[in-house]
Amino acid sequence: MTDWTQGYVADIAYTYGYYPELNPLRLKLAFLNAGLTPPEVGTACELGFGQGISVNLHAAATVTKWHGTDFNPAHAAFAQNLAAQSGASAHLVDQAFDEFCTRQDLPEFDFIGLHGIWSWVSDENRRIIVDFIRRKLKVGGVLYISYNTQPGWAAMVPMQELLSAHADTMSADGSGIVPRIDGALDFADRLLAVNPQFAQSNPQIAERLSHIKKQNRHYVAHEYFNNEWYPMSFRSVSEWLAPAKLSWACSANLIDAIDVVNLTKEQQVLLDDIPDPLFRQTVRDFCVNQQFRRDYWVKGRQPLSSLDQIEHLKALRLLLVQPGADVSLKVRGSLGEATLQTSVYGVIVDSLSDHCIKTLGDLAASLEHKGISFSQVVQGAMVFMAAGAVALIPDSSEVLRAQSSARSINDQLIRRARSHNEPSFLASPMTGGAVSVSRFHQLFLGEVHRGVEQPKAMAKALLTLLKSQGVRLLKESQAIETDKDILKELERQASKFLADYLPIYRILQLA
Ligand SMILES: C[S@@+](CC[C@H](N)C(=O)[O-])C[C@H]1O[C@@H](n2cnc3c(N)ncnc32)[C@H](O)[C@@H]1O
Repeated sequence: MTDWTQGYVADIAYTYGYYPELNPLRLKLAFLNAGLTPPEVGTACELGFGQGISVNLHAAATVTKWHGTDFNPAHAAFAQNLAAQSGASAHLVDQAFDEFCTRQDLPEFDFIGLHGIWSWVSDENRRIIVDFIRRKLKVGGVLYISYNTQPGWAAMVPMQELLSAHADTMSADGSGIVPRIDGALDFADRLLAVNPQFAQSNPQIAERLSHIKKQNRHYVAHEYFNNEWYPMSFRSVSEWLAPAKLSWACSANLIDAIDVVNLTKEQQVLLDDIPDPLFRQTVRDFCVNQQFRRDYWVKGRQPLSSLDQIEHLKALRLLLVQPGADVSLKVRGSLGEATLQTSVYGVIVDSLSDHCIKTLGDLAASLEHKGISFSQVVQGAMVFMAAGAVALIPDSSEVLRAQSSARSINDQLIRRARSHNEPSFLASPMTGGAVSVSRFHQLFLGEVHRGVEQPKAMAKALLTLLKSQGVRLLKESQAIETDKDILKELERQASKFLADYLPIYRILQLA
């Protein structure tokens, strides 16, 4: 282990995830739904950006000026390369938080985001981060922060310590991180096999361990094998953030705002009786056995009158970014999976299925005669945005100004898709953020950019590319064996892409 890591796992790179909560445009809906004024975001910063997918896509899809750091040079190199190719305003460096946060040349920010950082760094780093937010977040600015929390992770705390201790003390010096992880997980199995009283009192641990064993080792290494792993209660986080003068604004997990899928009637009554919003969140975490919190905090909460709230909500512009037929009416909350009413939410999807931009106000007015209320339309927007099926649309002038950087980053990502599965996102200047686009769709888009729009020719190009890398095509979990059958399947996928997706990708300016 080298010095600069401060005990953080650095011998294996992190995953290529994209996190929409870090999109400043998205917080508009969350804030307005909570009755708060959202900030206009011109400058933003991401601390610990990992591979830099979110920061790069947000910078390329908008005109927001982004700064960010991640001290792993392999991460920073990948992220800087993307930024250089896109030409977007993304100033990404490999400085540790102590170095980055004390820089004199950084602007003040409207938005600071940190995803998957807080629970994995030392108290000293947490102090540095809070001081940075205190000095660098503008009045009215928003912090997005996610972290492992209590009580959901309570039973796992001693088990994480055990796994980490095994990796440190029982593995051969010089063995890589992956064998050390596998060794620690095998040891945990042996421990459970002797039926320790800890597992008897915490029966969920066995299930958790078998889940970890199936997860991507790049993720597992960064999640469980750091020196620091501290699931912190909401109350402690609010105490930590107090010196930065932050108030809790709302959850960044849009589904959290839908009580019926998260809380029983009795739990809702109990929570409604608690006047203090912070204590209410603490109690809510017990009701849902919260493990991971994603929150927006604001420097100077500005509540809206209900008239202003409704007018601002009505002015939001919405676009369906998936084929209507593919939008699921299933929603997963803390109580499990629920199916939304087709007569309300199915109808909302139907009226967005022409893929024309609509304001929430116009959408609600057009559905009033069907007995659908404005609050149901807002709830639909929250649920479908959480699922990535709809997006908010920025002003046309901003869309125009982000076109070139979005095009450049997408060209680069589509080139990468020729040999990689991830990331499965592209930048849309139309939505000011990322949209989910699978590897095959990226490859089909590559063909479209070359002027090829016939399913047969597109399928042939993909077959040649996949074969050259020994990639096997699966259908219903079975490998397709002959070239003829592979071509047939690829042609079917290309036809669906051309008919159902390409028209939407054109609206999103991906093609
Ligand atoms: C769990 S990963 C999350 C990455 C990214 N935010 C994401 O969610 O994809 C934590 C990241 O923080 C970075 N990191 C940890 N400690 C750091 C420090 N002291 N200074 C800068 N970066 C740090 C790591 O290199 C790693 O990429």
